[in-house]
Amino acid sequence: MTQPQSLIIDTDPGQDDAVAILLALASPEINLLGITTVAGNVPLALTQLNARKICDLAGRTDMQVFAGLDRPLVRPLVTAEHVHGRTGLDGPVLPDPETPLQEQHAVDYIIDTLRREPAGSVTLAPIGPLSNIAMAMQRAPDTIPRIRQIILMGGAYFEVGNITPAAEFNIYVDPHAAQIVFASGVPITMMPLDVTHKALTRTDRVAALRAIGNRTGVAVAEMLEFFERFDEAKYGSDGGPLHDPCTVAWMIAPDIFNGRPCNVEIETASPLTMGMTVVDWWQVSSRPHNALVIGDLDADRFFSLITERLATLP
Ligand code: RIB
Ligand code: CA
Repeated sequence: MTQPQSLIIDTDPGQDDAVAILLALASPEINLLGITTVAGNVPLALTQLNARKICDLAGRTDMQVFAGLDRPLVRPLVTAEHVHGRTGLDGPVLPDPETPLQEQHAVDYIIDTLRREPAGSVTLAPIGPLSNIAMAMQRAPDTIPRIRQIILMGGAYFEVGNITPAAEFNIYVDPHAAQIVFASGVPITMMPLDVTHKALTRTDRVAALRAIGNRTGVAVAEMLEFFERFDEAKYGSDGGPLHDPCTVAWMIAPDIFNGRPCNVEIETASPLTMGMTVVDWWQVSSRPHNALVIGDLDADRFFSLITERLATLP
């Protein structure tokens, strides 16, 4: 097996974030260096707590968890309790965590890690608003070329928005941060709603997770049965889109996915389309390609991978 890939997950748990974190912890292809948290689905005080609860669930109280920005760079914070519940991790009842919160600020951790680890060895997987990532880039531009790649969940094009008619939540919450990240020159793989909406937590898929029989499978099934209800009602679907694990799954098995290099720009001025990701999918502009935009996946392989890996956890 090739050398495990070093990874920092930047997250706003969030039930789908939880599955992404658990998948990373359960996969030998990945060396999860640390988890940085950001305000998004729920305020920072809850996202950092939830990240620590998820580490406990995985039996990884040794994992380093950091708290980062409690608000976007410019705009006021918008949260999504209507989707994720008041705690942000509604569904299972999880005990107060043993996993400690690190003293260091998440942005300083990202900067220090990029400076310490070999250049080009660390992948960043932001699966919430991009506030921490953009702040690290602004505070320490020397670290930008040291980033191996950014695999982010965010944006939408043909699938249009989920928090406004034009914008996906992660980008909408902090569009100024997204603009900085997409202009950084770092290789980006973008997992927009166009692909995540094809990864539905269908009844049979949730049942397979519950049937694993370990505490992780039961807890994740309870998370998803809560998380999916909002999107099932909204879209009339069997199951809801399992957004965030698409990033980690791409690191493990990129052939599950397909997409194309595109130019992606972020709307930061219009109140009507604030946070929209304008994807030049048909290459009609001369703007440079700055992201591999993923549009499709083999959903059965995706869920099989998650189920198989989560079975290795407690
Ligand atoms: O729009 C979906 C994204 O917003 C996911 O990352 C979900 O966790 C929420 O943060
Ligand atoms: Ca998220």
